Amino acid sequence: MSYKRFTLRMKLSDILHTNYFLLPIVHRFDIRYGIGDLSVAEICRERSIDQDFFIEILNIYHDEHYFPEAELLKADVRLIVGYLRKTHAYYVDYLLPSIDSLIHALVESGHAHNSTLGPVASLFDEFSREFRKHIDGEEQQVFPYALSVADAYRGQADGTRPPTGWDGGIRCFEDEHLLMDEKLFDLKNLLIKYIGEPFDVHVCNSIIFEVDRLERDARDHARIEDRILFTAVEQMEKALRGAARA
Ligand SMILES: [Fe+2]
Ligand SMILES: [Fe+2]
Repeated sequence: MSYKRFTLRMKLSDILHTNYFLLPIVHRFDIRYGIGDLSVAEICRERSIDQDFFIEILNIYHDEHYFPEAELLKADVRLIVGYLRKTHAYYVDYLLPSIDSLIHALVESGHAHNSTLGPVASLFDEFSREFRKHIDGEEQQVFPYALSVADAYRGQADGTRPPTGWDGGIRCFEDEHLLMDEKLFDLKNLLIKYIGEPFDVHVCNSIIFEVDRLERDARDHARIEDRILFTAVEQMEKALRGAARA
């Protein structure tokens, strides 16, 4: 199913009423509640937000079949990295701890007699550890490297050497995205197919909704990394290498 595109002239409140899951996306641009009837363009102008990048991000999250690669590749790498960092903070500070406390509540609802709930907690702990490690790697190495390539491309620096141990280059992080995706599906599958009574069914439903939200959000986040950030960095690396040879 494909959706009607959101436009800059639309009221942001109408867009949010169309899809409440866009609220955390909007918050990543430091837009909170109390937005009145302002249009997207007006809010962006008022807060110095890049309106084209903002509207494309809303459209991408709203429609999983929409991905305007050429448009997004025009965005400033600093803008893309800034947005990706806000998304990481949302996962680390809110979504992972929130799912973790739901899983603890689920295990407690089994009154310590339910041995089928232990593997759910272990699987999530394992995922959470790996996901945080992945995020750390991007924050500490990938993003600084991407920014240094962008600086070099603009003629402001010459530090374009990838960190040591990056045999696969920036693309090695792409493979990890697929593994993360599979683990979140496994978690939902484990709950739906294999856990037994007793447990709190409402808590279990909430875990599935939240894990599904994380899975969709992380998939879109990974698409922006793989297809926009990494592609933009590769294009600049190529141009810099060409310029060095000339
Ligand atoms: Fe990331
Ligand atoms: Fe990533």
